[in-house]
Amino acid sequence: MTIFVTGGAGFIGSNFILNWVENSQEKIINIDKLTYAGNLENLKSVEDNPNYLFVEGDIADNALIESLYKLHQPRALINFAAESHVDRSIHTPQDFIYTNILGTFNLLETSLRFWKALKDSEQKNFRFLHVSTDEVYGSLGKDDHPFLETNSYQPNSPYSASKASSDHLVRAYFHTYGLPVLTTNCSNNYGPFQFPEKLIPLCISNALTGELLPIYGDGMQIRDWLYVNDHCNAINRVLEIGSIGEVYNIGGCNEKTNIDVVKTICLILDELKPKLDRKSYEEQIKFIKDRPGHDRRYAIDARKIQNKLKWNPSETFESGIRNTIQWYLNNQTWVGHVLDGQYRQWIKKQYT
Ligand code: NAD
Ligand code: DAU
Repeated sequence: MTIFVTGGAGFIGSNFILNWVENSQEKIINIDKLTYAGNLENLKSVEDNPNYLFVEGDIADNALIESLYKLHQPRALINFAAESHVDRSIHTPQDFIYTNILGTFNLLETSLRFWKALKDSEQKNFRFLHVSTDEVYGSLGKDDHPFLETNSYQPNSPYSASKASSDHLVRAYFHTYGLPVLTTNCSNNYGPFQFPEKLIPLCISNALTGELLPIYGDGMQIRDWLYVNDHCNAINRVLEIGSIGEVYNIGGCNEKTNIDVVKTICLILDELKPKLDRKSYEEQIKFIKDRPGHDRRYAIDARKIQNKLKWNPSETFESGIRNTIQWYLNNQTWVGHVLDGQYRQWIKKQYT
């Protein structure tokens, strides 16, 4: 048996593959275009494993995906591939439309053709699992109930609008053609191998190099943080026992303001890697111009996946953030390789 993952060289996909290879005997094939966010160094420890195969390619490439389906006959496809950074979507929305909408559309088309040609028993077992985000539901007020699967879609950024569009297409391929799909909408992830353009790895990396820790606006925006391995375990549960056509919200019940997250990082770094002058990393915090259209609060009501699929996160924010900071401290070579010329250009464009 074989499964396909797309975008497996990115943050969540590479954590998923590492867990899969460690815990399963089933072959996993990673299809990734290797954009700036894709990094094969994340997968170095499995590159020679006979159960793992990497194919460099674009999810929007019809001929490629079709030929891979013919060759490998997978029992499932998990779609992680996406342009995933909200700030970049504000500068270059066209990349998000291309990959997140057209790319997902192409995966649905090729998957449908493959699925239709399968025998009845194989058709029953096939799954198309689409990994999506809580941002499609829009922004919550302070006292609003956390997002339920039944909330209406109100995306506010080009990123979330493109993900919302892909979610709608996935839903339509189930209702119109019967393709056995599953969709997950998850809150903010953090953990090893996250690219340092996102808040947590950016602040860890900037703190260690003595740079500013940029907080947008008043820093009181709220995100619901989930450790990446907990997200990967949830995806596994959905893949194996989720009901086809259903949507599952995934979240850690860890609502934190951005300023609290950054102060926690500073506090842990003060302990694990004290500065020579004994000053706190907090002194590097700087409030800067807000993100346009910045969503105020995200929070997930995860009772459906907890009750129906018996999934629960195993890390608290306190244990997860400590593991993450320790991982970045132990993997400074990885960080060094990621901070190349292209990354520096982004930082200059975004923060000066
Ligand atoms: P990421 O940006 O770290 O990785 C994306 C990967 O997709 C990269 O390896 C990139 O090379 C690849 N890719 C991009 N365009 C491609 C294309 N056209 N064809 C093939 N590969 C392509 O993203 P991530 O943070 O790992 O997120 C993975 C998925 O999870 C995304 O769909 C994202 O929307 C969703 N998600 C992320 C979070 C989060 O907090 N990071 C939370 C909820 C949902
Ligand atoms: O909610 C799930 C989403 O979480 C995923 O779908 C996205 O792929 C993922 O990137 C993430 O989106 P956010 O915009 O919430 O993540 P980011 O790390 O970019 O920002 C987290 C919060 O921190 C957000 O309120 C913006 C703020 N921020 C971010 C950066 C990069 C800052 O204050 N300063 C910064 O420099």
